[in-house]
Amino acid sequence: MATATLDALGITEEFGIRLKDFWLKNNLKLDIPVIDLQHVWLVFLIMELENEIQPGTVPDRDSDERTRKIIADLLGFATEHFSLEEDLFLAFDIPEGAAHGEKHRHFVQFLSERTNELHSGNKDSLKVLVSFLKDWLTMHILKDDRHYADYYRDQGINLKQYFQNQVEKHALTIDRGQVAVYKLVSESEEVREIVNANIASNVTKIWNSNTLSVQIPIIDLQHLWLIGLIVELDLSSRSRNMGTSAREKIFHRVVQGATQYAQEHFATEERIMEKFHFPGYTAHLKQHQGFKDFVARRALEYRQGDTKAAIKLVQDLREWLLSHIAIEDHKIYLALRSHLPDVQKYVRELINSGEITVRKKQVELYNQVFGLQKTES
Ligand SMILES: [Fe+2]
Ligand SMILES: [Fe+2]
Ligand SMILES: [Fe+2]
Ligand SMILES: [Fe+2]
Repeated sequence: MATATLDALGITEEFGIRLKDFWLKNNLKLDIPVIDLQHVWLVFLIMELENEIQPGTVPDRDSDERTRKIIADLLGFATEHFSLEEDLFLAFDIPEGAAHGEKHRHFVQFLSERTNELHSGNKDSLKVLVSFLKDWLTMHILKDDRHYADYYRDQGINLKQYFQNQVEKHALTIDRGQVAVYKLVSESEEVREIVNANIASNVTKIWNSNTLSVQIPIIDLQHLWLIGLIVELDLSSRSRNMGTSAREKIFHRVVQGATQYAQEHFATEERIMEKFHFPGYTAHLKQHQGFKDFVARRALEYRQGDTKAAIKLVQDLREWLLSHIAIEDHKIYLALRSHLPDVQKYVRELINSGEITVRKKQVELYNQVFGLQKTES
């Protein structure tokens, strides 16, 4: 998945290597994974800007537009990153936190002024800007950011829980694109764990506030996974820094993945209904077909529309799924509840013959949700 995400972001192997070299050569890692992830993303945006002035690239009609967009993204994301750091200084007192915040503000002011000065086709001024950005970021991370990172480390403060709470409160968004780029430079699993814990906790809330279990483990597991995909889509469609066309592509890819997975799930349900002569089989099949048509229609609208359509698409998907599970799929449970052991036996056959695939990540989510349920009740 990571490679597909990198492709969607337009990251070539060569670009990935350059990014990793820059990161390692300058020794930018602070060992606070969420902060590192955001720093890598800043480097990524600066290097995207640098791509516009690579020797050999001829400015085209869209270069100006692209340049402006990247700078706007950079400005937006830098602001988000700085406020994350400053919130951190407030949460855990840090000497010279105010002076650090001042440096952030100077940078934002400088970059906003520069944006207005950039004229079309002026590669030289862009070149100067890129080298300034690289120098500033490197120096700032190595000196100022390292200062707080060392301080927290010496105080024995572990920030994982803090960031987990920020993600839950929607004060921090980490999206797939950022994780994929971060993975180019780091082996740490911490960010993935934070993201997964957040998805699991959202899925658990949805699961608990609706009566969704059909008591057939494979179907519950697949439903949980679908809800997880929708939660993830929901989070990324609301992400404040979702703006570049690359990110829209990632979103689109996830929508595609979710709908493909829905098909896989429908096939499982249909096999079970058929085998046990579920009386509402034809009507249920129609519902599934209705969903496929509806998603195809919506996806088309989304492709033609703006990013606001993304939020609407996700809400519709979510509503359809939850009501379908609670009403239609519940009927499967009612019809089959006296044959559950036979259903289980049949499911095992399907798994053994490879007709149903159960992924490790799905089992993980299933265990997390049921585990969380236990601790919460
Ligand atoms: Fe900073
Ligand atoms: Fe920073
Ligand atoms: Fe279902
Ligand atoms: Fe269904």
